[in-house]
Amino acid sequence: MSSTNLREEALRRRTFAIISHPDAGKTTITEKLLLYANAIHLAGEVKSRKSSRSTISDWMQMEQERGISISSSVLQFDYLGSALNLLDTPGHADFSEDTYRTLAAVDSAVMLLDHAKGVESRTRKLFEVCRMRELPVITFMNKLDREGLDPLDLMDEVSATLNLKVTPMNWPIGMGREFMGVVNLASKTVFVFEEGQKGEQIIDFKTMSVEEAKAHIPTILYDKLLEDLELIEMAGDAYDHDSFLAGELSPVFWGSAKTNFGIQPLLEFLAEHTASPASRETSTEEVIPPDYKDFTGFIFKIQANMNPKHRDRIAFMRVVSGHFERGVDTVIGRNNEKLRLSKPHSFMAQERSIVDDAWPGDIVGLYDPGKLRIGDTVSAGKQLLFKGIPRFAPEHFVRVHLEDPLKRKSLDKGLEQLSLEGVIQLFFDPEIGRQAPYLGAVGQLQFEVLKQRLVKEYSVRVSFQTLPFKVARWVEGTPEAIVWLERRRDYKMVIDRNDHPVLLSDSVWPLQYAQQNVEGLIFHEIEPLK
Ligand code: G4P
Repeated sequence: MSSTNLREEALRRRTFAIISHPDAGKTTITEKLLLYANAIHLAGEVKSRKSSRSTISDWMQMEQERGISISSSVLQFDYLGSALNLLDTPGHADFSEDTYRTLAAVDSAVMLLDHAKGVESRTRKLFEVCRMRELPVITFMNKLDREGLDPLDLMDEVSATLNLKVTPMNWPIGMGREFMGVVNLASKTVFVFEEGQKGEQIIDFKTMSVEEAKAHIPTILYDKLLEDLELIEMAGDAYDHDSFLAGELSPVFWGSAKTNFGIQPLLEFLAEHTASPASRETSTEEVIPPDYKDFTGFIFKIQANMNPKHRDRIAFMRVVSGHFERGVDTVIGRNNEKLRLSKPHSFMAQERSIVDDAWPGDIVGLYDPGKLRIGDTVSAGKQLLFKGIPRFAPEHFVRVHLEDPLKRKSLDKGLEQLSLEGVIQLFFDPEIGRQAPYLGAVGQLQFEVLKQRLVKEYSVRVSFQTLPFKVARWVEGTPEAIVWLERRRDYKMVIDRNDHPVLLSDSVWPLQYAQQNVEGLIFHEIEPLK
């Protein structure tokens, strides 16, 4: 395989996720992106999948019952010569950790906002993860077919709340029942709905100049449009591609996913302008570019028993560099163990098919014989360890009570496996050892998933005792500082799976007290890389 091919294939990859608050329209826009890219042919396919998932995997029944999306899937499709990989992220606030990890595997994100609600809590949290990674973020203001905030006020709100420069790429004409269309601000082309076409079909629209639009738009909307255009020109930040790629400026699009308006400009921007695969840094500060000669990748998600008929574990791998080929022999960075990647899969939602090769930016599902962990690096050349799949500090803690004591071994196995999958995190009391772990989760619902999966997959029934802790911090410090911490009693010191000290507390006060009184203590909200 020539290096030119590798470079070209990498350059045409666009790996992105959509971040949003539940109900902003993520499922709808995902479906419409696929529809416009001809990857599906019927509106409703993604939604019907959403509602029939229990036939694919029993444990996702919970998702159906609660109407939330628990697991992530990957959608791959081509558009305008680019290969797009859309990583779906769970919508429910309780599953934030899974979403955070997915954001470690993408090169850009679409931030979807309901234009009547602006920046909601979950969007803000997810945006913070994007910022931490300096990800380019595209904003899409959705539901313009309903009344919402004034566009200029909404732009100000986004900019102020997220401390982010925002630049409109198009501008809405009216909203709600009077939503007429949008203006492309670069070309000053106006796109106006064709009458009566706001259905489930891809709709027709008329294109015209701003002057010509006067005859098609009610005077009051036209005057407001001219006023807005003047204000934007005077006050707005001009679009700057480098600032976008650096995650400092977000281009803004407006539309209505449900009525199929404004999707195409977003899709075109994604295909033509959003970030192609980035280089990645290793723990020894070596930078691996996408056209690095050897195949390398990392695991950002592990999911067991996606299909209850085959008790399989699928590890989702993001290709970082080189040409990935089926059957490639690799080493796992963490322990230098050898692993042949013999049954790689690609995904279209929950449907899988075998892939023979993949390129930087692509997501490949690997059958995992139990050797892989989240965050693992696999490489065909020398042993490498990529930085950057963080574990986030849990906010909920329980201890497990086993109903049948004879099932101790199955419980241990289940907890171990499900913690490797990232469903929960395990912490241990150094005085007791590996028995009776403390379980931590970012979202309370993760415990319910754990409980159901323990019954279904390991035939173990458990109950939980809720613990009072709300804060967990990975601790770094001099041996004296750690001893000082261990002597006090107003919190609990435990160790994580890597024997790293972690402090569990019911409030942040003891942490602040410790920092004021002991030199050289650092508390990490995200697990430091080993
Ligand atoms: P999510 O995945 O982000 O949770 O949101 P989802 O797409 O499921 O959309 C949430 C609700 O918002 C749905 O309504 C959906 O139809 C609606 N929606 C999405 N985009 C638009 C839009 O552009 N305009 C309007 N008016 N509504 C939109 P629902 O009543 O929950 O479901 P449904 O019966 O409409 O399918």
